Amino acid sequence: MHRGVAVLAGRRNRLFGCAHKEPATGVPLMGHETQAQTMKIDRSTPVLVTGANGYVASWVVKRLLDGGATVHAAVRAPDDAARTEHLHRLAHGAPGKLRLFRADLLDAGSYASAMSECGVVFHTASPFVTRVKDPQRELIDPALLGTRNVLEEASRTDSVQRVVVTSSCAAIYSDAIDCARAPGGKLTEAIWNTTASLDYQPYSYSKTLAEREAWRLAEAQSRWRLVVVNPSLVIGPALQKRPSSESFNIVRQLADGTMKQGAPRFALGVVDVRDLADAHLAAAYLPDAEGRHIISAHDTDILELGRALLREFGDRYPLPRRALPKWLLWLVGPLVKGGLPRRIIARNVDVPWHADHGKSVRALGMHYRPLQESMVDMFSRMIDDGMLPKR
Ligand SMILES: NC(=O)c1ccc[n+]([C@@H]2O[C@H](COP(=O)([O-])OP(=O)(O)OC[C@H]3O[C@@H](n4cnc5c(N)ncnc54)[C@H](OP(=O)(O)O)[C@@H]3O)[C@@H](O)[C@H]2O)c1
Repeated sequence: MHRGVAVLAGRRNRLFGCAHKEPATGVPLMGHETQAQTMKIDRSTPVLVTGANGYVASWVVKRLLDGGATVHAAVRAPDDAARTEHLHRLAHGAPGKLRLFRADLLDAGSYASAMSECGVVFHTASPFVTRVKDPQRELIDPALLGTRNVLEEASRTDSVQRVVVTSSCAAIYSDAIDCARAPGGKLTEAIWNTTASLDYQPYSYSKTLAEREAWRLAEAQSRWRLVVVNPSLVIGPALQKRPSSESFNIVRQLADGTMKQGAPRFALGVVDVRDLADAHLAAAYLPDAEGRHIISAHDTDILELGRALLREFGDRYPLPRRALPKWLLWLVGPLVKGGLPRRIIARNVDVPWHADHGKSVRALGMHYRPLQESMVDMFSRMIDDGMLPKR
């Protein structure tokens, strides 16, 4: 038996602190077996997922439904079929149950009915966009006030025992160059982003403020435990047909010829959305899970993401094959519409990116799939769903 399951079987009641109407029943979740994937889901209390229709959250919802959970899915527009149709499809035939609730991060108290009776809260809702006109209104307010709104509701809801917050590696660093300043040259859970601001990398700033607020609220009470996942850039197939997450813009640019002459060696980490969903479940259901967790499979860069697609799609799409020189990017980057500011180029291109994901392996049982599998599955799904032209 997996250590995680054995631990869970013996100590589950301590986590949920309630009598069970029926024994928790587990479903091995798929693919290669990891501690996270053999997780048993407690079916006795429903769970809340905020922003349930999003790219990341939809996979969390799928894992929960496949494991037999009752999922309270909080979305802004439950009646908008285009945004929720995939959630109904996931529930169809799954052992779990889906209930949709209307809630908005900026409406105080709007998560109360969705959270009622829930044992676990997965707080994933937060805008992931990088091109904004008004960072305070478009990023900071929904991330920070939204986290406050959801977690204060958890403190008022007696059934809640655990809150899993989807933070980001962006709450740890702003630029790849920050890795060089980290002990041993690697980002760890001990590090906080101190360089992002309203004017510089405001998305990273929004995630930093939101996660700090989550820890402040967790420490102000003693019933529920906060467990945080800090993913790097998420890749892999979407469950919805028109994902709005920023993750898809990079792949679109790899496919549409924007980087035909070369791609920047813009350093970053990546993780598959399916592995990230497993991390969320492990963070929720492993009794000993605590603190922050870097969830990142590969230390890589934009050119390598493109190269991972070459074998499968290189003859049909204008994928990048070589690196764009940094000096050239530095010269033209700021002049191109939607291009990169020089400060970002200087601090991220041709600079190594390293993160230590050891805690996620040891504590959550993470097992990360290969980069090529994630990229090929994502690209194929984008073609099938009409996000990329068929060739
Ligand atoms: N994708 C990545 O590479 C990545 C990496 C690290 C961390 N993350 C984190 O993962 C989480 C999910 O991101 P994602 O990539 O899945 O992006 P996504 O598909 O755009 O999901 C964002 C979700 O947040 C919801 N949301 C935004 N503003 C809201 C508001 N005012 N009230 C209620 N809901 C609101 C969106 O709802 P609507 O559909 O109604 O807009 C959507 O469901 C975010 O916390 C993000 O910071 C993502």
